[in-house]
Amino acid sequence: MNDLNAIVESAQLAFAQAHAPADLENAKAQFLGKTGRITELMKGMAALSVEEKKSRGASINLAKQAIEAALNQRRQQLADAELQAQLQAEALDVTLPGRQRGQGGLHPVSLTLERIESIFGSMGFDVAQGPEIESDWFNFTALNTPQDHPARSMHDTFYVEGGTAEAPNLLRTHTSPMQIRHAVQHVKKYRAASQVQAEGLFSGDMPEIRVIAPGRTYRVDSDATHSPMFHQCEGLWIGQNVSFKDLKFVFTDFCRTFFENNDLVLRFRPSFFPFTEPSAEIDIQFPSGPLAGRWLEVAGSGQVHPNVIRNMGLDPEKYIGFAFGMGPDRLTMLRYGVNDLRLFFDGDIRFLSQFQ
Ligand code: PHE
Repeated sequence: MNDLNAIVESAQLAFAQAHAPADLENAKAQFLGKTGRITELMKGMAALSVEEKKSRGASINLAKQAIEAALNQRRQQLADAELQAQLQAEALDVTLPGRQRGQGGLHPVSLTLERIESIFGSMGFDVAQGPEIESDWFNFTALNTPQDHPARSMHDTFYVEGGTAEAPNLLRTHTSPMQIRHAVQHVKKYRAASQVQAEGLFSGDMPEIRVIAPGRTYRVDSDATHSPMFHQCEGLWIGQNVSFKDLKFVFTDFCRTFFENNDLVLRFRPSFFPFTEPSAEIDIQFPSGPLAGRWLEVAGSGQVHPNVIRNMGLDPEKYIGFAFGMGPDRLTMLRYGVNDLRLFFDGDIRFLSQFQ
């Protein structure tokens, strides 16, 4: 019996010293394998008598069972330890804040453009879009500003390839070319529909032109209130009986709605643009708040010049109207109290996220 106890004890010790499943299986082989100590003892029984076999066999079996029990226990311990280690390695801290996907938003100037479009939309204005690379004709000549006109010097811009040597293409200096582009399309459409007048200036009937054209514009200019790329929004209303008083009403209504202030005061200050006559600069004044009492220029405007009406393909004896061009960047600065225009175009998320 003693030899068996010693074997069981040494098996238990060997199992306890196995710290990995492979070591444990090796240790098992030493005792229960084909040439293991228990197996050898079984083989050694061949020489015994039947009586001896019975008692010796029972003892060996008990020892074998004890070894198997120790083996299973150690297997379980190692499996538990492995699971614990894995759980620890893959531990999840459910108290950490979740990772959220940052939410984007519209640029403050885009918010202003949307606002402008919705206010003018409610007054029956369409929205038109046009190219930022413009020809000399649409940017200047069609707008009654010929090659040698001094007003061109205020519109120094970036010239690009295309066009002619004397009149190269350029980045548009204002959205006013859209007056011509849009009106020409409009007239073409209704001239075709009317079938009355195939050529020459159109003097038939057509629905009024009522459109705004927002977009990017370019000039060689850069300081706190000027950026080489900036925004404008053109407005045009052409009909048979559209007057300066309509301009005053429409623009006053727009400004008061835009700034949500019915006490806003407007001033139409005489000015000059080659494509309007008469022309006016539009200033606004807030009755209260940090800007109270100051006149702030927000747009140029005027009655569309007869030469421009002609370049739209319309008969100036029949068609008349007004145009304005405003600065959405300026309107955004006034609305939110921003004092440096360049902030809008630096792309600093700390600034931009304040408008969400
Ligand atoms: N295009 C002019 C500018 O950029 C503004 C303007 C538009 C003036 C329409 C009159 C009519 O300064």
